[in-house]
Amino acid sequence: MPSPTPPRPTTKAVIPVAGMGTRFLPATKAVPKELLPVVDRPALQYIVEEAARAGLGEVLMVTGRNKGTIEDFFDRTPELETALEAKGDQARLASVHESTDVAQVFFVRQGEARGLGHAVLQAAAFVGDEAFAVLLGDDLIDARDHLLEQMLAVQAEHGGAVIALLDVGAENISKYGAVAVEDATVSGEATGDDVFRVTGLVEKPPADEAPSSLAIIGRYVLPPEVFEAIRQTPPGRGGEIQLTDALLRLVEDGVPVHGVVFSGRRYDTGDKLDYLKAVVRLAVEREDLGPAFAPWLREFAADLDGKGASPA
Ligand code: G1P
Repeated sequence: MPSPTPPRPTTKAVIPVAGMGTRFLPATKAVPKELLPVVDRPALQYIVEEAARAGLGEVLMVTGRNKGTIEDFFDRTPELETALEAKGDQARLASVHESTDVAQVFFVRQGEARGLGHAVLQAAAFVGDEAFAVLLGDDLIDARDHLLEQMLAVQAEHGGAVIALLDVGAENISKYGAVAVEDATVSGEATGDDVFRVTGLVEKPPADEAPSSLAIIGRYVLPPEVFEAIRQTPPGRGGEIQLTDALLRLVEDGVPVHGVVFSGRRYDTGDKLDYLKAVVRLAVEREDLGPAFAPWLREFAADLDGKGASPA
């Protein structure tokens, strides 16, 4: 008998971008939060590049009203390109092409903002009957860390769903989906960060009710069964259909759900303080900016401590 065809590697990613971005008002009155620049590129471009690096070349954005500029960003800009070509400005031309060349980007509108689970459900037709990844725009994972690749490897090995986890401490857990995990790590081919079997999930629990201080950060690899689980999930915290609740349903149905505990560099660009830290860290590491920025930053920090003269 011929051996069964091995499953196709996952190629699809879903990025929900319909959120209102209230934490960045007033900027987000007119600019979607996903397009706020981290150094000189929109936060969303880093996310799409991360998906593409992991082999996910088909990206669906779940958008909402007032997000039209996101479509513009991933579209070609013939007038701008012609002008840059005429000037012979190859570097800027390449940077303009980066956003359109990196992946094939599709869009679907969420219609009503009814929660993350509801946003992911809009991807059902795009995804079909295969595993797919969900990347949330507020979490930037440093390009040198390979979280998504590892999660895809865990999913290929164990099936079911895989979520990214971070120990955020008991004092912060109420801002996240929190999970309970089995004590022992799961052995497997995947190496590096710890992998646990997830036994329970709860969306934004009060600190004293959280099953652990392990939080879901914004990366998921999901099986197509998640769509049925979402359809059966009633509104939960905040009156919204929560992806976390749908994942609990999968656990209860016996679908394996694993968590990869991330130990690399993550920036929460949805939070103002973390956003500032992300901009500074990434700027320091840039070859074109770091050599001038880092010495200035050192002087500036010394000045804050009262140890130096204020830099220009
Ligand atoms: C969402 C999820 C939550 C998760 C978080 C990660 O919440 O519902 O489970 O921990 O993303 O960033 P949000 O931040 O959209 O409220």
